[in-house]
Amino acid sequence: MRLGIGVFFALLSLSAGAEGVSSPDGSIRFELSFAQTEDPSETYPVYTVTFDDEEIIRPSRLGLRADDRDDFSTGLSRVTVARKTSDTTWEQPWGERRFVRDHNNQAIYTLRFDAFEMAVHVRVFDDGLAFRYAIPEQDGLDIRTVDELTQFVVNRSGTAFWQTGDGHEGYEHLYQATDIDDVTTAHTPITLRLDTGTHLSFHEAALIDYPAYRLIAQGDGRFDVDLRPWSDGTKARVSLPFLSPWRTIQLARSATGLLDSDLILNLNEPNVLGDVSWVEPGKYAGIWWEIHRGLGTWSTGPRHAATTAAAKAKIDFAAEYGFDGVLAEGWNIGWDGDWVGEPIQDLTRSVRGFDLPAVARYARDSGVRLVGHQETGGHVTHYEKQMDAAFDLLERHGVRQVKTGYVGRTGSLKRVDDNGVTHFEHKDGQFAVRHHMTNILKAAERRISINTHEPVKDTGLRRTYPNWLSREGSRGQEFNVWGDPGNPPEHEVMLAYTRLLSGPMDFTPGVFDLDFEISGKPRRVQTTLAKQLALYVTIYSPIQMVPDMRENYERYRDAFQFIVDVPTDWEESVALAGEVGDFVAFARKERGGDDWYLGAITDEQARDLSLPLGFLDDGQSYRATIYSDGPDAHWETSPYEYVIRQSTVNNKNTLELKLAPGGGAAIRFEPEE
Ligand code: NOJ
Ligand code: CA
Repeated sequence: MRLGIGVFFALLSLSAGAEGVSSPDGSIRFELSFAQTEDPSETYPVYTVTFDDEEIIRPSRLGLRADDRDDFSTGLSRVTVARKTSDTTWEQPWGERRFVRDHNNQAIYTLRFDAFEMAVHVRVFDDGLAFRYAIPEQDGLDIRTVDELTQFVVNRSGTAFWQTGDGHEGYEHLYQATDIDDVTTAHTPITLRLDTGTHLSFHEAALIDYPAYRLIAQGDGRFDVDLRPWSDGTKARVSLPFLSPWRTIQLARSATGLLDSDLILNLNEPNVLGDVSWVEPGKYAGIWWEIHRGLGTWSTGPRHAATTAAAKAKIDFAAEYGFDGVLAEGWNIGWDGDWVGEPIQDLTRSVRGFDLPAVARYARDSGVRLVGHQETGGHVTHYEKQMDAAFDLLERHGVRQVKTGYVGRTGSLKRVDDNGVTHFEHKDGQFAVRHHMTNILKAAERRISINTHEPVKDTGLRRTYPNWLSREGSRGQEFNVWGDPGNPPEHEVMLAYTRLLSGPMDFTPGVFDLDFEISGKPRRVQTTLAKQLALYVTIYSPIQMVPDMRENYERYRDAFQFIVDVPTDWEESVALAGEVGDFVAFARKERGGDDWYLGAITDEQARDLSLPLGFLDDGQSYRATIYSDGPDAHWETSPYEYVIRQSTVNNKNTLELKLAPGGGAAIRFEPEE
C-alpha cells in the first residue's frame, strides 16, 4: 500500500498550529498530521520529530490494526487534543541517582474514525519523546488481537549501533556499527549517530502484557515496528481498555547526552509494591565462574561444584571482604543429563551434597545471604508449576535474591497448554512478558528480588516493581569462556551506549585471571586488569558480582581493594566523556555516603583523557586513589600491569588519565578532613 503524504488539517477539528507538542526547553518537537492512500477513505496519522530545527524523523506512520480490520484507518473524521505539562521529582529506592526529575509536555490526541475511536498519548521531554496507543472501551467494539503499524523514518544518514536479537544467541550477539542503511533487523535499544552529530536511541518503556518489538528496515531510512509473535503467529492478545507500551526516542547532541537520560524510567508507573526496604542492592560472590572455567560441574559427580563445603568457603570469602551474597549454581536436582528445554529441573530439592538449611544458616551467621538460583532450561510451564513452592523454600531459608535463567535459543521457551500440547515461544513475545510479570509478583509476595538471565529486554519496570533488580539480556563476561574469541575490547564500551540505556545489567565484571585454558585451548579476557575494576562504575547494576576465585583476587590484593570498596547504589551519576563504541567515563556518588567513584574504559585504542572534576562537591578536597593501566599495559601483552597512586584533588582540578589498549581506570575519591 502506497502512502501519499497529503496533509489536510482543514478536514479536522484541530486548529492550525495546535497539532504538535514541544519539549519544555523547546528543542524537540513532535508533530501530528495525516496522510491518505489512493483510497480517499483511508487516512492515517503520521508524525514527525524535529530537534534544534533539524528534521530527525520524516513523516512516519502511527497506528494499530485490531483483529485484522480497518476500524482505525478508515473514515477519520475528527481529532481532539487534551494537553498538560508535568514537572515532578520522584525518589528511587535504589538506582543511578536518588532523585529523578520528570519534566514533560503531554498531549492526548483522540482520533475518531467511522465507527470507533482510539487515542495517541504523547510526552515530550528535553531528552526525547514517547508515544503510546490507547483504545477505550466503547459500544459495539470487541477486539482480541492487535498488530502495530508504527514506523520510524530517519531523515539522515549516519551510523547505527545494533544487533539482531535473533537466533541461537538471542540478545547475546556482539553489537555492530554500520551505515544506518545497512541495518537489517534490529532489536532495541538501537543507537544512531547522525552525520549532523545528533545521537538517538529507539526503545520502549513499560512493556506489560504485550510483545516486545524489533525494527525491520524497509530502506530509505524507514524502520517498521515488528511485534514478536506468539507461536501461532498472533502478535498481541488484548482486551479493552487497551494501552500499549511507550515507543521511545531518546535524543541528544552528544554521545554522553544519551547516558544521563531518565526518560525510560519516567515513562513507567510509580512503585506499586509499597515498602521495598527489603530489596537489597549489593555485591555477591558465587560458585559460578569456576564452573564456567571448567573447574567444576553443575551436574552431580566427583567434580560437582556446589558442595556444602565449597559454599561455606565462599561464604567465608564473602564475609571476610564484606560482600552481601553468595550464589550457588547447581545446588538443586536437575542438572544431570540434558536439561535444556527438558522438564527436569527440580527447584524444590537440593542435591545430596548440598545441605541447603546448613548453608543458609552458615551464611546468616556470617552476615551474608545465600543467593538462590533457578535455572528453568527454558521450560516455562514446568517452572510455573513449581514456582510457588520454589520461592517458599527459599523464603524459609532467608534468601532475598534469586537469579533465574532461561537457557535456549530465542524462539524456544516451552509452553504446554491445557491439552498437553507443547508450543515454542519467543523470549520477548507476550507469553514471556506475562511469565516474567508473574515471576516478579510471586517473588515480591515473599520479599524476594529477581536477577533474570536470558530475559526479556528491560523497559524500566524496576520503577514499578523495584524487586526486579537486574538482568542479563546481552553478552556478558561469560562469553570470555564460551565465545571464540570472546568479547572484543570494544564490547563493554559499546554496551554503555546500547543495552545499558535500557537498564541495569548483571554483566559480572571483575575477572582477575585474564588468561587461562578451556579444554586445552587458550582463552583471553580482552581487557587489562584495571579495566575490570572500571567496569563496576561504567556498567550500572544495583547488584554486581565478584565472580573470580579468592586466589586470583588475593594475587592482586591491592587492586582487589577497589572491588571491596566500590558501592552498587548511587546518590548521583554523571556521564563525563565518551563516544559510542570508543570510550566512556562515568562518575557516581555513593548512596548514603560522601565518596565519589569514577570509571573510564576504552576500546582497543589507547587513549589520554582529560577529565574535569567539576562533579565533586564544592569546597571539599578529596584523596583520590587512582587504579590505572601501567605505562606499558596492553590487554594483549601486559594486562596485569597496573599502578595505584594517590593524590589530593578538588572540583577545580582536571585529571589526566592514560588508558591502555583494552584498558581502563577506576578511582575512589574520599573527602579529606
Ligand atoms: C546462563 C547464565 O547466563 C549463566 O550465568 C548461568 O551460569 C547458566 N545459564 C546456567 O544457569
Ligand atoms: Ca546467559
